[in-house]
Amino acid sequence: MTGAALRVNDVATGSRVLAFGDYQPAKVVTNDDLARTVDTNDEWIRSRVGIVERRIAAPGETIVDMAAQAGGKALAGSGLSPADIDLVIVATCSAETPMPNQAAAVAHRLGIEAPGAFDLNAACAGFCYGLAAADAAVRTGSARNVLVIGAEKMSQWIDWTDRSTCIIFADGAGAAVVGAAAEPGIGPVAWGSAGAHADRIAIADRTSFLRQEGQAVFRWATTAVAPVALAACERAGVAPDDLAAVVPHQANLRIVEAIARKVKAANAVVADDIRRSGNTSGASIPLALSHMIERGDVPSGAPALLIGFGAGLAYAAQVIQIP
Ligand code: UT7
Repeated sequence: MTGAALRVNDVATGSRVLAFGDYQPAKVVTNDDLARTVDTNDEWIRSRVGIVERRIAAPGETIVDMAAQAGGKALAGSGLSPADIDLVIVATCSAETPMPNQAAAVAHRLGIEAPGAFDLNAACAGFCYGLAAADAAVRTGSARNVLVIGAEKMSQWIDWTDRSTCIIFADGAGAAVVGAAAEPGIGPVAWGSAGAHADRIAIADRTSFLRQEGQAVFRWATTAVAPVALAACERAGVAPDDLAAVVPHQANLRIVEAIARKVKAANAVVADDIRRSGNTSGASIPLALSHMIERGDVPSGAPALLIGFGAGLAYAAQVIQIP
């Protein structure tokens, strides 16, 4: 065979997030609520993890339900119609069942006809992986616009008698619409994994609950993740002092603050959404940033650093322009 060049699509110079959206279930669970069922207390949870309250899905409320709510809000905010979306990506690690995927059902729910649709599992780093895939799809012309959603129902994989995990995890969804842009608005991703530590956070089999080696993951997150975040800044050509927002995965407020201290973004607002939302795994980054934008905490057009890390162990970071 001769080395004939393949035809490629028209390429876009860059991509950017056009809008974010978020959704949280109605049910609020406070630390005092949990202290009635396991041996814990409000003071311990606030000081060790930073959570005041979290949201837990209703029994029949699914990942598709939550993802469609957040995705619909992002789509409305983008000013696009369902017909403009060519690809739907759902980042999740807590699916009710392995098949069918969530993304095709979410697209159908939103009236998006026949898009590419896939789920991806990079646990708490999933949204950043999804954003990198969306950026590539837009820049190579595989999709005009992409809906990326992080959605989790962690509550269904939690042992509610295990105080080391049930106080941490929560449910919710966050979404972003990504479209073409003359100036790049999503920087190169810095990503990687450490599969030697795969058993540090795991659901062993279909009858098991999520278990984690809390202290080992804590040590890893507070030492290995900040250099990845700084690499993302370097690759995007953005100095930490120029960041308007630092949005680490909302794992634990002490981890968030430790990473922010090492990134040294002197002028940035640091996301602390975990206080009211708990740890929603792959949903936490878009959920936090959507809340920050809604409150007017961060200026449109300024750079934000997103930092995902968790089970795998998998991690990914990138700088984006705030829509
Ligand atoms: O999002 C995915 C990635 N996951 C993470 O990033 C999680 C990282 N790890 C953590 O966030 C923290 O390690 C935890 C929040 C899980 C635990 O906090 P810690 O400060 O590392 O506590 P510890 O495990 O060292 O436990 C300290 C003490 C122990 O008692 P003794 O042995 O000192 O008597 C625990 O039994 O606190 C006890 N403890 C609790 N006490 C009250 C553990 N959980 C609780 C609780 N309430 N809920």
